[in-house]
Amino acid sequence: MNVITLASRKGGAGKSTLTAHLAATAHLAGHRCLLIDADPQGSLTLWQSLRRDGKPVVKSAARGVDGLLAVAMLEGYDYVFIDTPPTMWVVVSEAIRASTLVVIPARPGLFDLHAVRETVKTAQERDKPYAVVMNAAPARRDDRDSPVVVHARSHLDKLGIPVWSGQITQRAGFALSLAAGASAPEIDPSSAAAAEIVGLWRAISRSVEAVNAARARPPAGVPLAGRGAPAASRAA
Ligand SMILES: Nc1ncnc2c1ncn2[C@@H]1O[C@H](COP(=O)(O)OP(=O)(O)O)[C@@H](O)[C@H]1O
Ligand SMILES: [Mg+2]
Repeated sequence: MNVITLASRKGGAGKSTLTAHLAATAHLAGHRCLLIDADPQGSLTLWQSLRRDGKPVVKSAARGVDGLLAVAMLEGYDYVFIDTPPTMWVVVSEAIRASTLVVIPARPGLFDLHAVRETVKTAQERDKPYAVVMNAAPARRDDRDSPVVVHARSHLDKLGIPVWSGQITQRAGFALSLAAGASAPEIDPSSAAAAEIVGLWRAISRSVEAVNAARARPPAGVPLAGRGAPAASRAA
């Protein structure tokens, strides 16, 4: 079972938005998915109440995530997505500790970038792979990142923090589809929003495969090089 935690100390970075779109996308791709809503604001619980088929299932983590994950394992889920509050409460470190991969959404601005460091530190302390995803970024023009994204990437690069090479653009479609209890690929699979989320999901699943393959390898007597999430870093 793979656990993907969306975490950032910064409110509004896009944790709940990306968790919902990613979980729905993985569900559409045929994976058995569970969503854990670890934020008392209950954004994902609200979103799921608007969905017609009730899938993916959302469980609230009022009493922490460990018990829910133990049950999820027995129930045979392929992926568990955990949405976390914008804090460093115990539930966030519990989720990070249980993660296969930590995804850190960040808007390309000073405050989000600063908040990334705290989550990175927690992931590193727990030896968990992580990667930043640029969210709500200005649209790319002529196949080029906008200056603010270029600046954000260079800032994170200097800190040695892996960043997904793609971006999730600021698009009304991301918010409107959630308001309809759906995700971008469910509303219009040919939309630019759907393409971005599917691209992110592919990069995440490749990273997860790489993490699992590295874990399955017999110990070679040397520590696993680096920590971040190399497969997500600069992945297509
Ligand atoms: N890529 C995006 N495009 C448009 N709106 C977005 C995008 N990402 C987030 N938002 C909006 O920004 C606000 C905060 O996002 P949210 O996912 O709730 O952040 P968090 O869970 O990190 O606090 C919401 O109103 C959401 O609809
Ligand atoms: Mg949220």
